[in-house]
Amino acid sequence: MDRQRIILGIESSCDDTAAAVVRGVPGAAEVLSSVVYGQADLHAAFGGVVPEIAARAHAEKLDHAVEQALGEAGLDLSGIDAIAVTAGPGLIGGVLSGVMCAKGLAAARGLPLIGVNHLAGHALTPRLTDGVAFPYLMLLVSGGHCQFLLVEAADRFQRIGGTIDDAPGEAFDKVARLLALPQPGGPHVEREARSGDPARFRLPRPLLDRPGCDMSFSGLKTAILRARDEAMAGSGTLSTTDRADLCAGFQAAVTDVLTEKSRRALEHYLTLGPPTPTLAVAGGVAANAAIRAGLQRLCAGLGVTFLAPPLDLCTDNAAMVAYAGLERLAAGAVDDLSLGARPRWPLDERSPAMLGSGKRGAKA
Ligand code: KG4
Ligand code: ZN
Repeated sequence: MDRQRIILGIESSCDDTAAAVVRGVPGAAEVLSSVVYGQADLHAAFGGVVPEIAARAHAEKLDHAVEQALGEAGLDLSGIDAIAVTAGPGLIGGVLSGVMCAKGLAAARGLPLIGVNHLAGHALTPRLTDGVAFPYLMLLVSGGHCQFLLVEAADRFQRIGGTIDDAPGEAFDKVARLLALPQPGGPHVEREARSGDPARFRLPRPLLDRPGCDMSFSGLKTAILRARDEAMAGSGTLSTTDRADLCAGFQAAVTDVLTEKSRRALEHYLTLGPPTPTLAVAGGVAANAAIRAGLQRLCAGLGVTFLAPPLDLCTDNAAMVAYAGLERLAAGAVDDLSLGARPRWPLDERSPAMLGSGKRGAKA
């Protein structure tokens, strides 16, 4: 049995400045504190994350986030065994801020420094929340990520599909913009969709006619633009019903694509004969009730456990970074002060690069 360790995690790869403390061993850890300072208000006027503003805000907030996370855990740095930090992929200015902060703390206190891949943080979250055994299937769906990962070990991930253009959250956000709904758009589109008719507009189900688990969402957004213009053609305005029907149609199309591609990913995964078959989701889009219900139904039919970690651990946070650091520390994989910040860092170096990017730039 590994000895219990206490890890301080730091995350600053996009628009959340986060610090957290996690204690435990691989597969059995607890979150002692998790602090997230969002930056939504700083970027709101620009319609997206502005890298320079993000980097500056991280540099200003990181110290406070770390102090608060340690305080809420009832610790100071003398109680910490190692410092884990997101070293990529992400917006380079933000990643650099986090890495510099972590290096400073590690050097000052003589603590081990561990560079973590942000996507590994998301992908290992089911082990933090539920101690899920390998191998499991992970669907990452957020504003910046969309991929199926076979998680074979803490340092072995196989990407078996992903988006070739927009991430689903990005598509939700763009559709919200087209329909004059606030940002981030996902929750607003979901709310409108509740009263809409998903069948009124004929929308595509991109790439379902092609084998495999790759996905595409940018055409769907263009289809919504056309349908919106047609609906407005007569009166020049978009009625509440039109808007609800467009949202319902879009959400149904995304749900169909994610569910069908998940079915294919699960078929492949099940051929490996996993002892405890599990599909886990992470990312902000996993908050969508219709998408969750679709995945839940699919899993129930296949005898697979469906796992959606609590939302604050599904979206960007530092507890996942601390936990991924815990797994690496237990494996003896520690970095030194030469640790670099990587804008691009595919989890599965063996798979070909994806064409798609998402709002944070190409990642995998
Ligand atoms: O994981 P997250 O907080 O940050 C990223 O890594 O991007 O995800 C944010 C994304 C946004 O695009 C947002 O519109 C989407 O998740 N989102 C949703 C819902 N809640 C958040 N999309 C669909 N339905 C929702 N209820
Ligand atoms: Zn993320």
